[in-house]
Amino acid sequence: MRGLPSNLHDDNVLVGYETSDDAGVYRISDELAIIQTVDYFTPIVDDPYMFGQIAAANALSDVYAMGGEPKTALNIVGYPIKKLGPEILNKILAGAYDKVKEAGAVIIGGHSIDDQEPKFGLSVTGFAHPAKLWKNKGAAPGDVLVLTKPIGVGIITTGIKRNKVSENQMNEVTSIMATLNKTAAEHLKEYSPSAVTDVTGFGLLGHTKEMAEGSNVSIHINIDQVPILGGTKLLADEGIIPGGTKANWEWLQDFIFYESTLTITDQLILCDAITSGGLLISMNKTAAKEYVDILQKAGNMYASIIGEVKESTAKMIYVSSFHKV
Ligand code: CO
Ligand code: CO
Repeated sequence: MRGLPSNLHDDNVLVGYETSDDAGVYRISDELAIIQTVDYFTPIVDDPYMFGQIAAANALSDVYAMGGEPKTALNIVGYPIKKLGPEILNKILAGAYDKVKEAGAVIIGGHSIDDQEPKFGLSVTGFAHPAKLWKNKGAAPGDVLVLTKPIGVGIITTGIKRNKVSENQMNEVTSIMATLNKTAAEHLKEYSPSAVTDVTGFGLLGHTKEMAEGSNVSIHINIDQVPILGGTKLLADEGIIPGGTKANWEWLQDFIFYESTLTITDQLILCDAITSGGLLISMNKTAAKEYVDILQKAGNMYASIIGEVKESTAKMIYVSSFHKV
């Protein structure tokens, strides 16, 4: 939408499309703003009920990433009803229904069209206090960076399509994608994060780049602290890399300095295009330690501090590892 004129002559638009944030935000009163977002895609897993859950968790995530509470959702359906029949579609819708219910929100309608390839997603509306929004800019030198879900999701799901993934791995990646960012967001409200976003299509480094750019800082990440799904490296070494991941890697070249110990495979994994990823948070170090500890005690073993925010220097992102040559 960069080619379109800015719509900011409405003072109630608190977040528009100019800042590449997770969702649009409109102020209704001094106490209430609505957060609006939409996301849909083609099936990424074979199980239709699971696909519905993942699509919903993914769409709801942008509301959580803005510090909001999801309230209502609308289904968006493209589906070849004559070819596949109503049963599969009903399972997709049931998955989304259950996930939206788990979020404490309600589906109040939707729209469907006949489509050769199934597509599903939701438009979600959430509430937030206008003064308590989380944005993807505002990261400050001295902060650390926290990630609440593992990466490698794009590579593993591509591996599923090529029959290269065990059932255990498949169950793990599916349950991670279907996990709401609700708990991570609720606990985060007890702290004052400087910047928050979620990791999706642009990958960990793509979304980190947007945070660094918007905040005018440099972000330093240590790959050995980044939670990565088991088996990701093996698949990536075999060349199982989604197209979106390669595109991210190429797009990000100019903005990142990779220490020489990082292989191309390492770089690609960090750029992996993800569905329904975790929250990426810039926050005070002491608070981050406490927050990660709380999430881990609540059963999220993946939540980690993965790097730190520093004054802006030549590159937006610096990636290192513990392994020295
Ligand atoms: Co997002
Ligand atoms: Co989105």
